[in-house]
Amino acid sequence: MVCRWGAELEDSCDRRGGIYRLTYRGPAEGHDVSVVDNLVTGKIANLAKQARFHQIDIRAPGLRDVLAAEGPEVVFHEAAQMSVKVSTDRPIYDAEVNVLGLLNLLEACTASGVRKVVFASSGATYGNPLYLPIDEVHPQLPGAPYGITKMVTEHYLRYYAQDRGLQYTSLRYGNVYGPRQDARGEAGAVAIFITQLLQRGVPTIHWDGEQVRDYIHVRDIAHANLAAATAGDNCCYCIGTGVGTSVNQLYALLTELLEVQVEPQRSARRAGDLRAAYFNNARAEHDLGWSPHVALRDGLEETVDAFRRGLEVTHPVAGAALVSAEPGDHGRRA
Ligand SMILES: NC(=O)c1ccc[n+]([C@@H]2O[C@H](COP(=O)([O-])OP(=O)(O)OC[C@H]3O[C@@H](n4cnc5c(N)ncnc54)[C@H](O)[C@@H]3O)[C@@H](O)[C@H]2O)c1
Repeated sequence: MVCRWGAELEDSCDRRGGIYRLTYRGPAEGHDVSVVDNLVTGKIANLAKQARFHQIDIRAPGLRDVLAAEGPEVVFHEAAQMSVKVSTDRPIYDAEVNVLGLLNLLEACTASGVRKVVFASSGATYGNPLYLPIDEVHPQLPGAPYGITKMVTEHYLRYYAQDRGLQYTSLRYGNVYGPRQDARGEAGAVAIFITQLLQRGVPTIHWDGEQVRDYIHVRDIAHANLAAATAGDNCCYCIGTGVGTSVNQLYALLTELLEVQVEPQRSARRAGDLRAAYFNNARAEHDLGWSPHVALRDGLEETVDAFRRGLEVTHPVAGAALVSAEPGDHGRRA
């Protein structure tokens, strides 16, 4: 995502599919937003009307021309091969998008005088936590190519800051959920469970369901991105709620909100599944003035309502088929 920064960005944003939509006061007040995406998982229907759109791969040489024409001040780098499963099945493809695509983007950024890159990093850079809650100084030992390429990105950003003066902030997200999330993702457990329950399916819970994750609403993620546009230069931040929620708890909350009683299927632990991961927000709160505002129950209620209205259900989700090996499909994320 490319944004030419104006005087003051309205503190309101939400997410449309894979593309984050910033609701801004408009060009008259100095904000000008452009989006770059190849639509491999993103959807054109999810774009904010005010945003200009360039359908282009971040690996394409033409990206440089797009940035030169747009002259952005801040780039929010959300585009990624974002599936852990795809990254283990196709590590070369993962690196092509997440490393070579990144370098193509950073070269284009430096050539067109971008001030700052705000990067969507991940809790997946940590691997199996040594302690909880995870903070920024926790060792990064990613357990899959996806986490490795996210971690590598952080190092490249540090290099470009040192060598080229391109500022950055890396935001290590927890498990993001919210309206319009694509239900074809394993770590998109919220979207998968809601969609399956609405379609009268029987969701599957892997392992014993006691694995704990940090579910964070996409509006909080968007606010963290906005905060990072003008703060936290050349630093990394954990962006989670600080609250661990088990998959069993999540499922119970969703069935309650959907007013259904469906006993989930149970299946074996998936290779690489972590017992627990949740994040310490103290640094983000101190440096970015950011903290999460959406309580899980409220966020789930909003998400359930949105899915119920049918706006989000764009395709059926098979009962237990939670992972696809196709690069265009979502797989397990951290
Ligand atoms: N959803 C989560 O729980 C989570 C957690 C941690 C980090 N992240 C990161 O947040 C970002 C957004 O993730 P998301 O969950 O919205 O996934 P998403 O797949 O919905 O969004 C990724 C976007 O990148 C685009 N894209 C992929 N490859 C591209 C390429 N080669 N060129 C141009 N565009 C390309 C896709 O079309 C899509 O719009 C990603 O960088 C992801 O790694 C997500």
